[in-house]
Formats: sequence, structure tokens, C-alpha cells
Amino acid sequence: MTDYSMALDPQKIPRHVAIIMDGNGRWAQRRGWYRVRGHVAGMESVRVVTRLARRLGISYLTLFAFSEENWQRPAMEIRVLMALMRSYLRRELTEMQDNQIALKAIGNLSQLPERVRRELEETIAATAAGDRMDLTLALSYGGRSEIVHAVQSLARDIAAGRLKPEDIDAARFSRSLYTADMPDPDLIIRTSGEYRLSNFLLWQSAYTELYVTDTLWPDFREAELLKALETYQHRERRFGLTQEQIEALEA
Ligand code: FPP
Repeated sequence: MTDYSMALDPQKIPRHVAIIMDGNGRWAQRRGWYRVRGHVAGMESVRVVTRLARRLGISYLTLFAFSEENWQRPAMEIRVLMALMRSYLRRELTEMQDNQIALKAIGNLSQLPERVRRELEETIAATAAGDRMDLTLALSYGGRSEIVHAVQSLARDIAAGRLKPEDIDAARFSRSLYTADMPDPDLIIRTSGEYRLSNFLLWQSAYTELYVTDTLWPDFREAELLKALETYQHRERRFGLTQEQIEALEA
């Protein structure tokens, strides 16, 4: 049994952790396997990381599972990913319910195959009472599209006379995004060594701490998450203020 207390400060557990799960294809290719085997192994990392995040008291875990750009991948890979998604939802339902985890989804969900969308909606409804952790899957998600979608909805409200342009501020804008009910991420983890946000949570990541590891997603398990959290806990978050101002606020 892993000792989860380790070097972590329970007072400084991030509220919201978001992860760009990258490197499944490379993990498989390095072994001479088809890329999709990397996604199967990556699904196991999703399980392990979710379980540990829940035990550590992280309130929001958001996983970039499928980007808008991923629709351009080979049809066979997309089919496997969609099938994996459905099997994940079916297999994890009871564990989510037992652990008071509420499943959520963000993204252009209307693009998902009907069967995946239905399974997703059913799982969201069946776990809605979960109040210990929100597990949000970003599916067919793109940050720029999310922002455009929010602008359109605000423009519609203005055109209909329900909103005045001067009433739009950052808080109002945030409430028009898919992530309306979530706090901004405290930490974004990206696996497989790429220093990019890749269109993930663009608006929400304004003050987010970034952690990049060379580890490929299928190898990202408990020890890796603990390492990321330890690193996060040693960061100094200032939100544009001076250290003296932060200390005065904390006093
Ligand atoms: C990126 O690796 C990963 C994806 C595009 C899909 C992520 C999917 C999973 C982890 C499995 C299922 C997920 C859930 C939530 C059940 P890549 O293929 O881009 O890797 P590469 O950069 O090495 O090619």
C-alpha cells in the first residue's frame, strides 16, 4: 500500500487539477505496438490518477480526453477511442457512485457519436449526487471554440435586450464558458514533455501553475501525480501581487 501522506502538505492540496494526457501513441510505438494499445494503457492511468486525486481531497479533476483536432486522426483510432470511452463509463460507474464522484463533460459534445453521448449523459445523471469530486472529461474540446461559443451566447443576450455590453466583466464571461461552475485550475499537468497548452482551458489558465513531465501518459501513475503535487506545493503563487502583499493577505 502506498503511503499517500508522504511529503504533501494537506493544507495546500490544489482544488482543481487539470491534465493534458499526452504520449499514448508514442508509448505503444516504442514497444512496436499499434498506437491504440497506448490508449488502453492510458485508460488505466485515468483510473489510478482519479482514485488517488479523490483520496487526496482534490475537488476538481479535469482530463483532456479528446480534442477538437483529434477528429482528424485515422478513423480506426477514433473508433477505438470512442469505444474505450464507453467501456470506461460503464466500468467506472459504480466506483464513481461509491466514492461520491460526479462525472461532468465539457466540449462540443454534439459532435460525439450518438452512443457515446447517450452513455455520457446517463453517467452524468447517475453520478450527479456525487459531492466529493467533479471528474470532468474534456471531449471534442477546444479552448478557442469554447471562447467563441461564450461570445456568441453573450451577443445573443445583448441582441435580445437581456444584457448590456457594460455588464460584461471577467466574472460574467467566465460564467458563459463550459466551465461556468468550476474554479479555474490551480495546476495543469502535461505529460510527454511538450511545453504547450494545445488549446486547453485557455481563458481559465490565466494564473494556473504549469507542470510538464517527460513521462508518457500510460506511465503516469501514483508516484508521478504525487511528484507533480509536491512540485506545485513548492511554487509561490502571487497572482500578479508582490510577495509582501501576499504575506499581508495571509496574515
Ligand atoms: C494523447 O496521446 C491522448 C489522447 C488523444 C487520448 C487520451 C485518451 C485516453 C487516456 C484513454 C481513454 C480516456 C478516458 C477518459 C477513458 P497521443 O495519442 O496524442 O500520443 P502521441 O502524442 O504519443 O501520439
